[in-house]
Amino acid sequence: MKTILSGIQPSGVITLGNYIGAMRQFVELQHEYNCYFCIVDQHAITVPQDPQELRQNIRRLAALYLAVGIDPAKATLFIQSEVPAHAQAGWIFQCLAYIGELERMTQFKDKSEGKEAVSAGLLTYPPLMAADILLYNTDIVPVGEDQKQHIELTRDLAERFNKRYGDIFTIPEARIPKIGARIMSLSDPTKKMSKSDPNPKSFITLLDDAKTIEKKVKSAVTDSEGTIRYDKENKPGVTNLLNIYSILANKSMEQLEKEYAGKGYGQFKADLAQVIIDTLTPIQEKYYHLMESATLDQVLDEGAEKANRVANAMLKKMEDAIGLGRKRK
Ligand code: TYM
Repeated sequence: MKTILSGIQPSGVITLGNYIGAMRQFVELQHEYNCYFCIVDQHAITVPQDPQELRQNIRRLAALYLAVGIDPAKATLFIQSEVPAHAQAGWIFQCLAYIGELERMTQFKDKSEGKEAVSAGLLTYPPLMAADILLYNTDIVPVGEDQKQHIELTRDLAERFNKRYGDIFTIPEARIPKIGARIMSLSDPTKKMSKSDPNPKSFITLLDDAKTIEKKVKSAVTDSEGTIRYDKENKPGVTNLLNIYSILANKSMEQLEKEYAGKGYGQFKADLAQVIIDTLTPIQEKYYHLMESATLDQVLDEGAEKANRVANAMLKKMEDAIGLGRKRK
């Protein structure tokens, strides 16, 4: 059975972009692969976080993973900081990575642009991500489009390690969905939908209530043409909404274009809001139930135990290959 690993940052809310680009795939893939899903809290502190909020967001994300359909009997769910081998292996990958290649990462460029003080962790973020992936001998990493460059760097670091110290890592591949890999902002459809966007109208969170969803979809930026058709170049707003609709309602673009021929944006947006509400309502019901139950801690404890076992074995292999510490029996 091939291995899958992916991670989500517990920084703020979880958006419909995270769900469509990543989480939905996780749920499907867990039936066919040996899966690890991680709450990457150490990645979240590359930018300042309020300690209490961070704790809460970690718990919320764990509950959301289960609420969207991750089955702990099939997949291992764990918190990154509870598996110290990640930070240890992350250091080793930092020592293999070149500053120049880290500075070329578009996420680093975007997040550091215009800022006076940028943490060193923001720059060395990708080697920690490489550790997340490589410690588990991961074959496939399901992610949205924005993580492609980080996975390419992970492959380079794995190859560099293998060449220098002996063949111990599997070279992983990114798995990016054909549609929905880049859900765009509702207020500026030329930008990615992002939880760090200061304008809350630009994203839908998995915990938004029905009224909020209706309002946000209603205010989504479209264009003045008034026709509902897929045209990424000239109609990025409508195209983004069509993408969301098509994925969540499981209808093809042609089907939707036909259904809405001659109809206005008002009707289209009202229907789309309903599709989103119908998707999120059962997830929210499970989520609120899980937040009150003891299941969450049990799942995370078991997840940490298994992840530690697997990650420590690989870390030991890495240290032996490099010559760190003393020879262990
Ligand atoms: P993060 O937390 O920003 O996002 C989690 C996942 O959601 C996807 N995503 C999107 N997909 C489609 N449209 C969008 N607008 C959108 N926004 C986010 C992301 O591509 C991602 O798959 N560096 C990673 C976390 C990470 C990780 C890992 C991922 C740490 N270690 C190991 C995979 C493997 C990140 O910041 O994701």
